[in-house]
Amino acid sequence: MVDDILRTPGAVRDAERWTAHNYHPLPVVISSAEGAWLTDVDGKRYLDCLAGYSALNFGHRHPQLIAAAHAQLDRLTLTSRAFIHDQFADFCRELAELCGKDLVLPMNTGAEAVETGIKVARKWGYQVKGVTPGQANIVVAEGNFHGRTTTIVSFSTDEDARADFGPYTPGFTVVPYGDLDALTAAIDENTVAVLLEPIQGEQGVVVPPEGYLPGVRQVCTERDVLFIADEIQSGLGRTGATFACDHEGVVPDMYLLGKALGGGIVPVSAVAANADVLGVLKPGQHGSTFGGNPLACAVAIEVVRLLATGEFQRRSAELGERLRAGLEGLVGKGLVGVRVRGLWAGLDIDPALMSGREACERLAERGVLAKDTHGSTIRLAPPLVITEEEIDLAVTTLAEVLAG
Ligand SMILES: Cc1ncc(COP(=O)(O)O)c(C=O)c1O
Repeated sequence: MVDDILRTPGAVRDAERWTAHNYHPLPVVISSAEGAWLTDVDGKRYLDCLAGYSALNFGHRHPQLIAAAHAQLDRLTLTSRAFIHDQFADFCRELAELCGKDLVLPMNTGAEAVETGIKVARKWGYQVKGVTPGQANIVVAEGNFHGRTTTIVSFSTDEDARADFGPYTPGFTVVPYGDLDALTAAIDENTVAVLLEPIQGEQGVVVPPEGYLPGVRQVCTERDVLFIADEIQSGLGRTGATFACDHEGVVPDMYLLGKALGGGIVPVSAVAANADVLGVLKPGQHGSTFGGNPLACAVAIEVVRLLATGEFQRRSAELGERLRAGLEGLVGKGLVGVRVRGLWAGLDIDPALMSGREACERLAERGVLAKDTHGSTIRLAPPLVITEEEIDLAVTTLAEVLAG
């Protein structure tokens, strides 16, 4: 087939012409999807090994989630929080129960959940801990990714994310990820929270040393500091457990959730914490027009119910072992490092061979979609509905690409 009878090149050109270039997408133009498979405008099929950066943990168009969305679209879609709607309490209660927390505060995007967590921690610091007014600080980690707002990029260590967006929001102390001594030393009497990803996703699925998260939990308890776990990408089944913190038996004071909570249908994020923390917010102090809207709640209730069965966490744990075995077999054959937790993998490609971007382009040509991050690293995060055969297909396709 030649270019002018394919729809993809024109669609790529149009997208580039009419949008700001704040992303560098692979040149594929998707028009439909089901489960773990995507189809482009030319009818080519791809195995989805990114799953919308984990927003599609349950696959594309999961029947239970689509049915909930359809039913809700036919009844009620938006009220704002000026009124209460009939999906709201069920969503908050069921999510609070899943998290083992008293309360839930729904928002829309991940960055909003992070902003909410920061605001709540600061207010808690002043009102409950007794921090000097205006002096609250939050300890964060090098290599973090928590979103794109001006406050959040203020403590990013990625120059692309941060440069030229100042003046920056003060009140954050950055320490090396995985270094408990450095984190402990950074805590002072004005520290209100430690904000961490239990596994750093954007950084390349970086798993901290065993004992780090329990150590953070302990020091936070001892020093009267909130432990905020950003589980926006790592949570909700991705790592073979409901939360990545579960692997080390750690319970943070606050969970930040997003991505998969919306079932790949609507943006839904949330903060879950106990009443002594979230209770600091009073009417007028925080909010969002769309946060906790009826459509979002109807879909997210079903997401929580899918997770409550434990089936997706089990699949992720079991299939993750197959993925690990396959990928570890490629170390020395084009890969120089592999990190796997559940169905989530960071792969370091030998930089002498090709960049992560080139590897993803070659995977896409062969019908597997994944995304590079930071030079020679690729992240795999397939939908948790992927089958054993499809995992094998992803691994053999990667092996072909690495073999050149
Ligand atoms: C750990 C983490 N926190 C926050 C965010 C921001 O989420 P959103 O893009 O929905 O604002 C992301 C997005 O990748 C993330 O991975």
